[in-house]
Amino acid sequence: MLRVSRLSAAHGAVKAVRDVDIEVAQGTLVALIGSNGAGKTTTLNSIAGLHKPSGGSVHVGGRDITGWSCHKVVRSGVALVAEGRRIAPPLTVEENLELAAYSGRSTKAQQREELARVFDLFPRLAERRNQLAASMSGGEQQMLAFGRALMTRPDVLLLDEPSMGLAPSIVDVLFETIETLHLAGATILLVEQNAELALAVSDRVYVMQRGQIVSDGTAEAVRGRPEVMSALFG
Ligand SMILES: Nc1ncnc2c1ncn2[C@@H]1O[C@H](COP(=O)(O)OP(=O)(O)O)[C@@H](O)[C@H]1O
Ligand SMILES: [Mg+2]
Repeated sequence: MLRVSRLSAAHGAVKAVRDVDIEVAQGTLVALIGSNGAGKTTTLNSIAGLHKPSGGSVHVGGRDITGWSCHKVVRSGVALVAEGRRIAPPLTVEENLELAAYSGRSTKAQQREELARVFDLFPRLAERRNQLAASMSGGEQQMLAFGRALMTRPDVLLLDEPSMGLAPSIVDVLFETIETLHLAGATILLVEQNAELALAVSDRVYVMQRGQIVSDGTAEAVRGRPEVMSALFG
């Protein structure tokens, strides 16, 4: 469903991503792990059209979307829940979700269906539907960021550090939701600094260090490999 081939990306002189290959098969949950600064966010942003790659290609369902703008990438079926939860604070929960649906590709009827599904998945959002997003806790804002991505009916969901800065109880709720989506057949690329958490839920894992993939395989296979330990813990 998602194929990243020899992707490279830079921030000025910093070569943040070098020749990265990642494949995410339909219906699988693939984790991209690595320590802070490894290049995980730059990789996701390059897929999502928020950062122009300097080389390589990105294919979604066989279609080449390399270098497309983020709006076009969303319409091609890829949704990113960005690091740091991008929501619109002066709007209500429901307005945030409706606004997200506009950038997608669904009909009005599908949008209503999707809104019901998001409220089903996150009862907290349903309870707070008329509340301003700015007044919600960090965990609720992360749920809203998730909900916004789902409103675009993505074929591929990109998650950048969903657990970052959240209390363990909220992280549990979010990861249960990720597993629910996975079981329902969603295709997910999950970036996580918390390797244990990522290994526990994923079908396959890629390990990134200094801009490159240094190991990949099933969670059982990569666990304990020396190069993985070094990538994660130095
Ligand atoms: N906006 C930026 N300007 C300059 N350097 C950046 C910028 N964003 C990231 N970098 C650098 O690119 C590298 C990869 O960063 P990033 O993709 O954010 O890693 P990760 O998400 O794995 O922590 C790091 O060396 C980081 O300092
Ligand atoms: Mg990051």
